[in-house]
Amino acid sequence: MAEKGMDLNRFILEEERKHPLATGSLSLALMAIESAAKIIASHVRMAGLADILGQAGKVNVQGEEVQKLDELSNTIMIQHLLDSGQFYALASEELTEPIYSHKGKDAKYVVAFDPLDGSSNIDVNVSIGTIFSIHKRIGDGEENFLQKGSQQIAAGYIIYGSSVMFVLTTGNGVNGFTYDPAVGMFLLSHPDMKIPEKGKIYSINEANTHKWTDENLIKYIDQLKSEGYTSRYIGSMVADVHRTLIKGGMFGYPADKKNTNGKLRLLYEAAPMSFIIEQAGGKATTGKENILDVKPESIHQRVPVFLGSKKEIQQLLEFIG
Ligand code: AHG
Ligand code: MN
Ligand code: MN
Repeated sequence: MAEKGMDLNRFILEEERKHPLATGSLSLALMAIESAAKIIASHVRMAGLADILGQAGKVNVQGEEVQKLDELSNTIMIQHLLDSGQFYALASEELTEPIYSHKGKDAKYVVAFDPLDGSSNIDVNVSIGTIFSIHKRIGDGEENFLQKGSQQIAAGYIIYGSSVMFVLTTGNGVNGFTYDPAVGMFLLSHPDMKIPEKGKIYSINEANTHKWTDENLIKYIDQLKSEGYTSRYIGSMVADVHRTLIKGGMFGYPADKKNTNGKLRLLYEAAPMSFIIEQAGGKATTGKENILDVKPESIHQRVPVFLGSKKEIQQLLEFIG
């Protein structure tokens, strides 16, 4: 196990050295995401000052056009990831179509990302994040993004919370790094993260109960209540999953009458978070199949999501499976 305090760059390089055939491309790819995350984090910290420095769509005091924070995060991710030359193509929640990189035309990887997750929470100073998912390039076009979550090479998220954390898996466990603003580095604070076998919290938007298409889900939640569970729901997937990873329990976004496949996106929300949760010893399901086994049909596809501790997900499947 890596030692606490190790910085993310060294961790990435040491992981790479374990694979004698590695070319260093994945390390550079991950470092590009890390750089983008640091810049996004600094903008997120300034979010409350947007009214003073300039509003989205207007010009700020420096004479620059001010972008909304999710658009700005998207721009920062694109710039850094393209500039790294390590990605053949990029898909983002904020882009209808993927971007194919000129500099990365021979690169080995593709990346899908949600540049800013939980954006409705920006104005109220609640945790938000960035999520990413990396696959090997397998062809020339969209097929690169239509690979199952089980084929991910790496996935992670950055949570902009009371501290900033980078949580990463490359398929060899999960490690969490906390940003130290004094030195500008992410330092290993949560080595080899494991989700508890069972928790005491469920996390789901219960205001939608009457719209849920599977009524057995209500029975499952009632069961958890009768067992003394409490509820927490932030409305930022990154924050809700981060808490679930650390404290255990269950996070869900089910299908409902309005969102018949749920709300969350497979490629850059459900699949990377499921990879992390499974690598930490938990489980993730749509209710019908393991999320990592879902073969995507389109880039912005949605899926119902239930993830968390083994115990809660097994119990859920007894109700809705
Ligand atoms: P985004 O801000 O990237 O559009 O994602 C918002 C998502 C996700 O973060 C969260 O789990 C979910 O929306 C909350 O949805 P409800 O407000 O419908 O509960
Ligand atoms: Mn999102
Ligand atoms: Mn988003």
